[in-house]
Amino acid sequence: MYITPCTTPAMFEATINSCNQPRLVSVKFLLSLRDKAVHSLVSKQNILTKPGRRIKKLLSTETMNSTASAASVDHSISKLEDEPYLQALTISTLFSFPMILKAAVELDVLGIISRAGSAGVSAGDIASHIPTKDPDASRRVDRMLCLLAVNSILTCSLSENDERGVQRIYRLSPTGRYFVQQGDEGSAASMLALNAHPITMEVWSHAKDTILGGGNEFKKVHKKSAFHYTNIDPTYNQIFNQAMADLTTKVMNQVLQIYGGFERLGSLVDVAGGTGKCLAVITSKYPPIKGINFDVPHVVATAPFYPGIKHVGGDMFASVPKGEAIMIKDALHNWDDEHCIKVLKNCYESLPEKGKAIIINVLMPKAPDSTLASRYITQLDATMLIQLGSHERTQKQFEALCMASGFSEFWVADHLAYSVWAIMEFRK
Ligand SMILES: C[S@@+](CC[C@H](N)C(=O)[O-])C[C@H]1O[C@@H](n2cnc3c(N)ncnc32)[C@H](O)[C@@H]1O
Repeated sequence: MYITPCTTPAMFEATINSCNQPRLVSVKFLLSLRDKAVHSLVSKQNILTKPGRRIKKLLSTETMNSTASAASVDHSISKLEDEPYLQALTISTLFSFPMILKAAVELDVLGIISRAGSAGVSAGDIASHIPTKDPDASRRVDRMLCLLAVNSILTCSLSENDERGVQRIYRLSPTGRYFVQQGDEGSAASMLALNAHPITMEVWSHAKDTILGGGNEFKKVHKKSAFHYTNIDPTYNQIFNQAMADLTTKVMNQVLQIYGGFERLGSLVDVAGGTGKCLAVITSKYPPIKGINFDVPHVVATAPFYPGIKHVGGDMFASVPKGEAIMIKDALHNWDDEHCIKVLKNCYESLPEKGKAIIINVLMPKAPDSTLASRYITQLDATMLIQLGSHERTQKQFEALCMASGFSEFWVADHLAYSVWAIMEFRK
């Protein structure tokens, strides 16, 4: 609410007590406040944190910008304040972000915002489209949206309207679009659903034990490893497979722009291929390829039909189907070296003379840096450590796996997909 006509502290108090909207008041008026009682009221209402503290016009930023004349407390760090402490506090409450984002995805809040397009929506508009009749829900939705805007999922602008006064209007950011269910385009919402699922979260709470003792924490907590657990919990199986299929869609579309090694292949086996999405992306570009999607029986049993692709159930540690080339995408990082070498030796056996195994996997940088890619890879490596007792690998480590499983030549493409995924060939 934008309060301009208050000219006395009493008038200000009456107005502020009657308003439920965000409290935005004119700079001029706040600067004119002298009354101590009003200062304490203002403090309680979260407008000013201390009397006389500097206030400034809300500046346009990437995530928040103002279309109405408005004022706010200056939240920039002054020399007297301790930025590392504020950063530590922010980290200590970081958890709220993925949990609120998960709730927004589950309530289709991002879908509602997406469908509103460039016009944007207010919290009130959204509250009228979610399953609640509680008149206070819009205020809670607004708080949820604020957190998402601060974390670059949404943009927020202020809009002034005669009937409703000043409102926050939200739109999806380019990152936020990836949390809307997008059919075939590769949503990240399904990966969030997997990572924030209670079954997965429970394992994280034992991270300290894994650091101290190693091993497969998922198995210790749930009595079965993740890939066996998916066999007894069809819902978790579906969530896991959807997360992988969505990720694979995006990654493989970029791999196909970088790498031409699938061209002219007559057949291709995808070992640990999930529900076949990876082969579906490849064969839609190269229709002559006959694809064999190989995974455990309870995963291929749920795989959809794709033209030119045969789903085969089995155990890659026992044997893998024969093909002109064999690929393994995002599966070697689920296993220790001993298991990887076993699978790779089986691939070697099933390949023709001069055949190749195409390995697509996240590549661990030699040293962590501050790039987004480095942050994602180290977060994923931590996920492998805690959930599966496995790890991401450097190029040198992949080369060592290649040689240890009998292949004679290691090759890696110059470019990484999304600065993260390497495309490697282990040649016979
Ligand atoms: C991280 S997912 C990768 C899926 C797919 N390659 C992709 O990138 O979308 C690992 C896959 O390995 C499969 N897997 C695990 N153990 C297996 C085994 N013994 N034999 C065959 N597949 C297995 C899982 O079922 C799962 O689909």
